[in-house]
Amino acid sequence: MADVFNWQLGRNMKYPYDAKYPQRQFAAVFNINRCIGCQTCTMACKSTWTFSRGQEYMWWNNVETKPYGGYPQFWDVKILNLLHEAHQHQNKAMRWKKTKNQEGKSPYGEYEGMTVFESVEYEHPENAQSRVLGYLPQDSEWAKPNIHEDTSPAHGLETDRLGFVKKTVRLPEHESFFFYLQRICNHCTYPACLAACPRKAIYKRPEDGVVLIDQERCRGYRKCVEACPYKKAMYNGQTKVTEKCIACYPRLEGKDASITLDGVPIETRCMSACVGKIRLQGLVEMNDEGLWKQDAENPLYVLVHKLQVALPLYPEFGTEPNIYYIPPRWAPRSYLRQMFGPGVDRAIDQYANPTRELLAILQLFRAQREILFKFQIQNGPKLFDREVTLSSGKKAVLEVYDDTVIGYNKVGKECVRVSVQEPVYERPKSHFNSI
Ligand code: SF4
Ligand code: SF4
Ligand code: SF4
Ligand code: F3S
Repeated sequence: MADVFNWQLGRNMKYPYDAKYPQRQFAAVFNINRCIGCQTCTMACKSTWTFSRGQEYMWWNNVETKPYGGYPQFWDVKILNLLHEAHQHQNKAMRWKKTKNQEGKSPYGEYEGMTVFESVEYEHPENAQSRVLGYLPQDSEWAKPNIHEDTSPAHGLETDRLGFVKKTVRLPEHESFFFYLQRICNHCTYPACLAACPRKAIYKRPEDGVVLIDQERCRGYRKCVEACPYKKAMYNGQTKVTEKCIACYPRLEGKDASITLDGVPIETRCMSACVGKIRLQGLVEMNDEGLWKQDAENPLYVLVHKLQVALPLYPEFGTEPNIYYIPPRWAPRSYLRQMFGPGVDRAIDQYANPTRELLAILQLFRAQREILFKFQIQNGPKLFDREVTLSSGKKAVLEVYDDTVIGYNKVGKECVRVSVQEPVYERPKSHFNSI
């Protein structure tokens, strides 16, 4: 195994192949706080890519209700259990050590546990031939994509004999909670699916980091399905080969025949259909060390690296996923920390008390079809201020300004201009009640 650097873990880790980084990386930020669970993204993907025979249970984009929902069922609990068992076997802990974040190399500290690549030899004997710790879900586990939708557990709630909550809920945590988790393939920097395939049928594109399965080379071995810790490689029983999210690459290439926007990259189907405006997509520049190139004008760079308001899902798996999440404000922090790592409190504080820059960038989510490569802010007047409580219990003053944010596409053309305060338009009297 080669030694590669994983900045999400703040350390080098073992991976079956030498590091090779794309020029740009497909990435996105999903704001969990805004998702309404409408599944429009899910249907946008399905109606575009997975409506054929053999794809009936195939949902490249899915939105599951946490903590109970999952597609395939209990994917997170199952892989975490395997990882936990491997750590017990080695008398190790899945712990994070606090370290200084030097030049973006360890923003969340250093992960002291093992990844799915490093722990494989310590798990069950049947994994002896595997390169990645994982499991193959049963058919039944794929059969109910939205099981437990909108199911809320009582988190330490005291109820009376009729089930009514005895005491009132106090923020910043709701004691009864659920939230939606939007999931697509993470187009990982160190894909577990690619590492596991004995046919070398999976590759990562050098131009945009998109991870694809060569449908001609694939022989249906399903080691990729077993290995992907996020379970985003899916076997097609009809064609007998495996498929996965292709990041709507014709759109990234600016070649989607249905949209003519001068050949510039445009957002994927699931992103551009999002009703809740929770998604912001990008193609971020990488350097030779596998780090994001510093770019204070790129909205994704600011969200992920500068402000650290958006976090990777289960970074300890070690694949360096490229979909980032703004964690939900009111869910129990312990639950969120096991999901997004030690950066949760900082991220939620940033979101609860946003800087002018963050508030402006949040307006860019789903405001245009082109992928943004740059943004600029024009200062506006102050609207109001308000006291907010941070994770530590300390108070802070949130000041809101009516700034305007301008987004630019790949060729530097302005493609969106939005302000923090939404303008109000009054229907003219001549068209009053015209419906
Ligand atoms: Fe592969 Fe899974 Fe990562 Fe997608 S999420 S690139 S399928 S390991
Ligand atoms: Fe489907 Fe495209 Fe979204 Fe991937 S990026 S989940 S292929 S719509
Ligand atoms: Fe959530 Fe947007 Fe998908 Fe609706 S379309 S479920 S708001 S991510
Ligand atoms: Fe390889 Fe997965 Fe096909 S392991 S052969 S890409 S099913």
